[in-house]
Amino acid sequence: MDLSTTYLGFKMSNPLMPGASPLVDDLDDVKRLEDAGAAAIVMHSLFEEQITHEQLSHLHAVEMHEDAFAEALSYFPRPEEYRLGPEQYLEHIRKIKRMVKVPVIASLNGTSPAGWLDYAKLIEQAGADALELNVYYLATQAWETSESVERRTLETVRIVKGEVKIPIAVKLSPFYSSLANLAKQLDETGADGVVLFNRFYQPDIDVEELEVVPTLQLSDSSELLLRLRWLAILSGHVKGSLACSGGVHSPLDAIKAVMAGAHAVQVVSALLKRGPGYLKAIREGMEQWLVEHEYASLAQAQASMSHQKSPNPQAFERANYMKTLQGWQA
Ligand SMILES: Cc1cc2nc3c(=O)[nH]c(=O)nc-3n(C[C@H](O)[C@H](O)[C@H](O)COP(=O)(O)O)c2cc1C
Repeated sequence: MDLSTTYLGFKMSNPLMPGASPLVDDLDDVKRLEDAGAAAIVMHSLFEEQITHEQLSHLHAVEMHEDAFAEALSYFPRPEEYRLGPEQYLEHIRKIKRMVKVPVIASLNGTSPAGWLDYAKLIEQAGADALELNVYYLATQAWETSESVERRTLETVRIVKGEVKIPIAVKLSPFYSSLANLAKQLDETGADGVVLFNRFYQPDIDVEELEVVPTLQLSDSSELLLRLRWLAILSGHVKGSLACSGGVHSPLDAIKAVMAGAHAVQVVSALLKRGPGYLKAIREGMEQWLVEHEYASLAQAQASMSHQKSPNPQAFERANYMKTLQGWQA
C-alpha cells in the first residue's frame, strides 16, 4: 500500500514519526523507531533557558545578571537536571545522524527573538535536516496584546529562517485569537510547516501542601478532535506542510489526521505507553484499513475528504456547533 507523503520538502514512505519527546534520547530506541518504519526522527527540545544560561555563563556574566534573573531562574530546572545540555544536544544530533537514513528533525523551544537563536545554525551544522520551533508561551501579562505575542513569534521565525537553510516547522498551541491568520503570516514569513499542536500541561494544586504541582498525563484519542478541526481549516490555505501532534493512538486516528490534511503524523503518548515498535502496528493497521476500504493509496484517502471542505468554514463551524447542541438527548 502506498502511504507516501511529502513533509517539509522530504519525500517520505509514510507520514508516521515519533513526536518531540525523550523517545529518541536512547540510541537503541532510535534504531527501534527506524526499524518500525519511522519516516523521520524528531528530537526533544533544547530550551531557550538552557542556551541563555550557557551563553551567560560563558560570558562570566551570570553574577552580573544574578539579581535580575535570580527569581526567574529559580523556577527553572538547574542545568544538570536537563536530559542533554546544549553541547550534548548537538552531539546527540550527530550520533543520530550517523545511525539513521531518515531525516532528523531537531527542536528548539523558546519565545524571544534573541541571541539563543544562534543555536539554530549550530543545529544545522550538527547535521539536522530540519528544525521544529516550539513557541510554547502562555500570555500572562495583562499589558501584552495578542498582536505583540504573534509579532514576537513571527520575528523569531524570521530570524531563524535568516540563520539556516534547512526547513523550519513551527509548533503552535491552539490558543490564538485567530489561528488561521497566524498560520497565514507564518507562511508569508517563510515557515515551511506548522505542527498542530503543542500540549499545555495544566498544573494542579496540592491543597494539603499548599503547592502548585506539575502534572503530565499522557494523551488519549479524544485530543485528536481539536487537531482534526484545525488541520481541516488550515489545509489548502497554507502553502507549508501540516503535521498532526496529539491524540494519535490507533491506525484509524492516523488515517483521520491525514484525511483532515496532515502531511505528517507525530506520535508520542502511544509510543511512551506501548514502546517504539507500536509505530509499526499503526502503519500496518493503516495499510489494512486502506485495503479493506479499497483505496489505492493514502493520498487517495486524503483527497476523498475534500468534498467536506466548506467554502465558508465560519458558517460551517457555527452551524455544526448549533446542530450539536440541538441534537443532545437526555
Ligand atoms: C514526556 C514528554 C516530553 C515531551 N517533550 C517535548 C519537547 O521536548 N518538545 C516538544 O515540542 N514537545 C514535547 N512533548 C510534546 C509532544 O511532542 C506532543 O506534542 C504531545 O505529547 C502530544 O502528542 P501525543 O498525544 O502523541 O502525546 C513532550 C511530551 C511528553 C509526553
